[in-house]
Amino acid sequence: MNLTQYIDSKREEHLNELYEFLRIPSVSAQSEHKPDIERAAKWTADRLRGVGLDNVEIVPTKMHPLVYGESLRAPGKPTVLFYGHYDVQPAEPLDLWTSPAFEPTIRGGNLFGRGTADDKGQVHIHIRALDAILKTAGKLPINLKVMIEGEEEVGSVSLWDFVSASKPRLKADALIVSDTSMLARGVPSITYGLRGLNYYQIEITGPAQDLHSGIFGGAVPNPLTILSELFAKLHDKDSRVTIPGFYDDVAKLSQAERKSLNSLPWKASEFRKTVGAPGLSGEKGFSIVEQLWTRPTLELNGIWGGYTGEGAKTVIPSKAYAKFSTRLVPNQNPDKITRLVERHIRKLLPKTVKLKFDLLSSGKPWVAPYTHPFFEVAHNALEKGFGKRAVFIREGGSIPFVTQMYDTFKVPCILLGFGLPDENAHAPDEHIALDNYFGGIKAVAQFYEGLGSL
Ligand code: BES
Ligand code: MN
Ligand code: MN
Repeated sequence: MNLTQYIDSKREEHLNELYEFLRIPSVSAQSEHKPDIERAAKWTADRLRGVGLDNVEIVPTKMHPLVYGESLRAPGKPTVLFYGHYDVQPAEPLDLWTSPAFEPTIRGGNLFGRGTADDKGQVHIHIRALDAILKTAGKLPINLKVMIEGEEEVGSVSLWDFVSASKPRLKADALIVSDTSMLARGVPSITYGLRGLNYYQIEITGPAQDLHSGIFGGAVPNPLTILSELFAKLHDKDSRVTIPGFYDDVAKLSQAERKSLNSLPWKASEFRKTVGAPGLSGEKGFSIVEQLWTRPTLELNGIWGGYTGEGAKTVIPSKAYAKFSTRLVPNQNPDKITRLVERHIRKLLPKTVKLKFDLLSSGKPWVAPYTHPFFEVAHNALEKGFGKRAVFIREGGSIPFVTQMYDTFKVPCILLGFGLPDENAHAPDEHIALDNYFGGIKAVAQFYEGLGSL
């Protein structure tokens, strides 16, 4: 049996094993799920051992453990590091899921459940590809290092400690990641650029405690009103961020790249459908693809304070809170952007309130050439798995580890994404297309084999 036939013959087995992984609610943001995080790390370590990796370890960090394993039994062959994450986003709001978030369910050619696309399903694609190679060829054709972390969805905050303390261990000829999307259904894609992300939280305090809005209202500052005014001032009518200096270091696209990105087989109509809003709003002067992949943004992610329960409560809250973030593009510097953001917010706020400003996580943007011979191998492997030539894209999401690795080792980072733009990652009804999952296993197996014959 060849590799593809073997993979086809094990469809039930692939899925049943993936279901086990998906049923563990390994939500990294919520401390009540700490035991599930530990279980998911253990499950991952067991699977890595199961596909023949040596020295598999669950490495504790300041927050959530990461799983590391390696197989260095192919002297003279390339060494690659595969990275992914076993943690997932919170599943709330639960009542918006058609089937429960942690009970994987197939409907209409898609597998639904939290983590199906981001990123357990994609990590599992690699596990099953390795299994298929082992079962058909008996051994791995390359040297492989695998690192699966448990805090990607909260900004990979303690990962840097591990990376800087383990440089020799992580060194490889290339980084392989499957944590991105395809441009569209049936269009295999290799991603060569990601935006960076700074994530902030602020707390605005007015009165020392909550006040009766009848007795006090009219004379005292209301932190919620002040917070709303603040965020209303951070964009202009052209949807540009108003923070002075915000765009200073943004790299201008070359004519060639602009042309290549805007001529991809990407449909604005499909994008509109996925978004489902009555209209779109983006920075004036740029195409949607440019807005999404090459322009920085500031987004309000959550805002709270005061009374939001049933009925009415006439209160002036003492405090108001917001979570917000900036997506960053080359050559913006995250530290500089943090300083600009904080300075501007302090300047806009009236003296009647106090501000607490926190940076929760920070990650640099990444864009890199795709000329290394490994990309050709990846391109051919995707064609074997999906029957179509792959396109090179950039994406708007962020993966802090990719930038850290690229900065540290300057090696090619090969991002083979098997999600889809409408996969609902971070939202209810997250799913992966079964075609992408099975096609992904074939493509990745071909990729590893191809690297072995270089
Ligand atoms: N897999 C995503 C990143 C992604 C998604 C990249 C789609 C490209 C296309 C990853 O799990 C993620 O969600 N990252 C976070 C950043 C993190 C620092 C919290 C993000 O992009 O919001
Ligand atoms: Mn992810
Ligand atoms: Mn994610």
